[in-house]
Amino acid sequence: MDNIPTETSFFRDLQVFEALRQSIFPELLRRHRLDRQLNLWSAACSSGQEAYSLAILLRDYFPLLAQNWTLNFLASDVSETMLAKARSGIYDDLEVHRRLPPKFLRRYFHQEGSQWVVSDEIRLMVQFQQIDLLQPLPPLPTMDVIFLRNLLIYFDRPTQAEILNKMRQVLAPDGYLLLGATETPLRCDTRFKPVAVDRAVFFQIRPPDDAAGGRSRHTGS
Ligand SMILES: C[S@@+](CC[C@H](N)C(=O)[O-])C[C@H]1O[C@@H](n2cnc3c(N)ncnc32)[C@H](O)[C@@H]1O
Repeated sequence: MDNIPTETSFFRDLQVFEALRQSIFPELLRRHRLDRQLNLWSAACSSGQEAYSLAILLRDYFPLLAQNWTLNFLASDVSETMLAKARSGIYDDLEVHRRLPPKFLRRYFHQEGSQWVVSDEIRLMVQFQQIDLLQPLPPLPTMDVIFLRNLLIYFDRPTQAEILNKMRQVLAPDGYLLLGATETPLRCDTRFKPVAVDRAVFFQIRPPDDAAGGRSRHTGS
C-alpha cells in the first residue's frame, strides 16, 4: 500500500459537495426524519480533509443534525500515519488555502503559529478508525453515503471488484456510493448503477429486477 498516493484536499471536486448540499442530504434528511439517524463513511480518508469537508458542510447547512439526530460518521484509512494526522486536525497554510472556502476557514479553524486547527465542534463529529479494505471489514452500520474516492484506480479489476463487493454489503439499498471523478464501478460490478445528481455522478445498488442499465435523475432543489 506504500505506493498508493495519499493526495487529498478540502472540498475536492466541489460539484460533489454541491450535489450533497442541494440534493442528497435534503433527501436523506426527509427519508430519515423518523429514525433521525445518518450513517456516513469516508472509506479511504487519507489525512482527513474529505471527512472534515463533509462535517463542515453538515454543520453549516444542516444545523438541525446537531439537535437530537444521531450522526455516525466514520472515516477510515489503512495508514496509521494518515489517520494520526487526520485525528489531529492540524493543517498547514497550503492545505487550508487550496480549496477551503475562506468563510469555513474563519468559522471552523483557529490558528496556532503557522498551523490551522479544526475546531472541536467539527473534529468530534468524525470517528477515525484503521480499516484495510483488502481485509474482511469489521462490523459496520448500514451506510447512507460512502465516499470511496481516488482509491480504486490504483488496483486491478479483480481487486476493485472485491472492494466494491464489500461496499455493496454495507451500503443501504437506497444509499449513495461516491467515487473519484475518473472512477467507475461499472466495468467490474454491474450491480451498481450511475445516478446523476445535479452536476455529480453517484452510484446506487441496482434493484434485483432492474436490468435496464443506468438511469439518471435530477433532484435539484
Ligand atoms: C489518493 S488518497 C484518496 C484520499 C481521499 N479519498 C480523496 O479522494 O481525496 C488514497 C488513500 O487510500 C488509502 N489506502 C490505500 N490502500 C488502502 C486500503 N487497502 N484500504 C484502505 N485505504 C487504503 C491511502 O493510504 C490513501 O490515504
